[in-house]
Amino acid sequence: MNILIQNGRVVDPANAIDEALDLLVSDGTIARFGKAGTIKPAGAQVVDAKGKVVVPGLLDMHVHLREPGSEYKETISTGTAAAKAGGFTSVCSMPNTNPVNDSRSVTEFILSQAQREAVARVFPIGAITKGSRGAELAEIGELYDAGCVAITDDGKPVMNGAMMRRAMEYATIFDIPVISHCEDMSLAGKGVMNEGFVSTELGLNGIPGAAEEVMVARDVALAEFVGCRLHIAHVSSAGSVRVIREAKQRGIKVTAETCPHYFSLTEEAVRGYNTLAKMNPPLRTAEDRGAIRDGLRDGTLDVIATDHAPHGMDEKSVEFDYAPFGIVGLETAVGLTLKLVNEGVLTFEGAVRALSLNPAKALTINKGTLSVGADADITIIDLDQEWVVDASQFKSKSRNTPFGGWKLKGRAMETIVGGVL
Ligand code: DOR
Repeated sequence: MNILIQNGRVVDPANAIDEALDLLVSDGTIARFGKAGTIKPAGAQVVDAKGKVVVPGLLDMHVHLREPGSEYKETISTGTAAAKAGGFTSVCSMPNTNPVNDSRSVTEFILSQAQREAVARVFPIGAITKGSRGAELAEIGELYDAGCVAITDDGKPVMNGAMMRRAMEYATIFDIPVISHCEDMSLAGKGVMNEGFVSTELGLNGIPGAAEEVMVARDVALAEFVGCRLHIAHVSSAGSVRVIREAKQRGIKVTAETCPHYFSLTEEAVRGYNTLAKMNPPLRTAEDRGAIRDGLRDGTLDVIATDHAPHGMDEKSVEFDYAPFGIVGLETAVGLTLKLVNEGVLTFEGAVRALSLNPAKALTINKGTLSVGADADITIIDLDQEWVVDASQFKSKSRNTPFGGWKLKGRAMETIVGGVL
């Protein structure tokens, strides 16, 4: 089937394109571009993108799909429906499912379930250690062979430095990145929010920024030593941005992501013991948020990922200490990122890079571009649409967002995966 996307502004950072063009999709791939009105294929389905922006399909490299094991929170079906609604054509599924994705059989289950039910592409990420318990390495070669694009124990750090070193050595053999959840558990202790003035006032145990920063520094040192590709997940603190910036200047193979909540909110959102503002790492200070924005601006932080972490509202409707960490993010990420663009922190092209090309590069997967011959994974964004976040309308099974009621401008209006509208 042919699809002709007409009258849009095409923005494709990989090919330095930002102009009004028509785009023809044929049999699931990008077939050609042409000046407006110059492509006239017979029988093509026409999509009118007048006043809209046509960008490479967005890729969220940090998503908790919860299947297998916690299907009451999310499934591969509902999670990818949320992705598609939010403008993402691909997601990476984190391994902290039940059972943990630490073996070929779990990876194959995820891929076969995705084949049956997913409406966006799913790239599984395998665990670093068996059960993500930190005691014994997972079969990294087997995970790679089964289709995992990276390894991580996300949700937990790998506390043992020697274990992390060995994981990096194995990952290097397969040329896949190690994604690090940076948290020194001995410093994080029983913390449930950022350690500082607000945690003291609220009487909650704090997690200092240093709990993240010392592990970023450790893993950067190990990546340099081993020569491994390191990706730092969910960067939340100014100190982490500083360490990553310096590591990049020194040529170490490190990439890093932050999430919309870290550039949009601060620890103040926790006041009132708001469990919808509880995530790990925690929301931090205005100074940290400023540093995250600076890191996005200067490219220290390459990637915007959501850390989409669905939890049931009954689980969140408890005392702050007992609520699980995490918020959903797939359906608000584009609007929150465009807010950054409107505030002048990022250019639109920079935002598209952070949401498509850069995560694809970090994972070395062939996505994030509208090059002729590439899979027709395309997102069409309406930059002018004003909307109010209403969690009851989410495609996700879960509603745990701190952004309910926010007025946002800009939204994905069409998501095309492999040439399917
Ligand atoms: O807030 C979080 N939630 N951070 C993590 O690292 C894990 C995630 C989850 O799985 O719920």
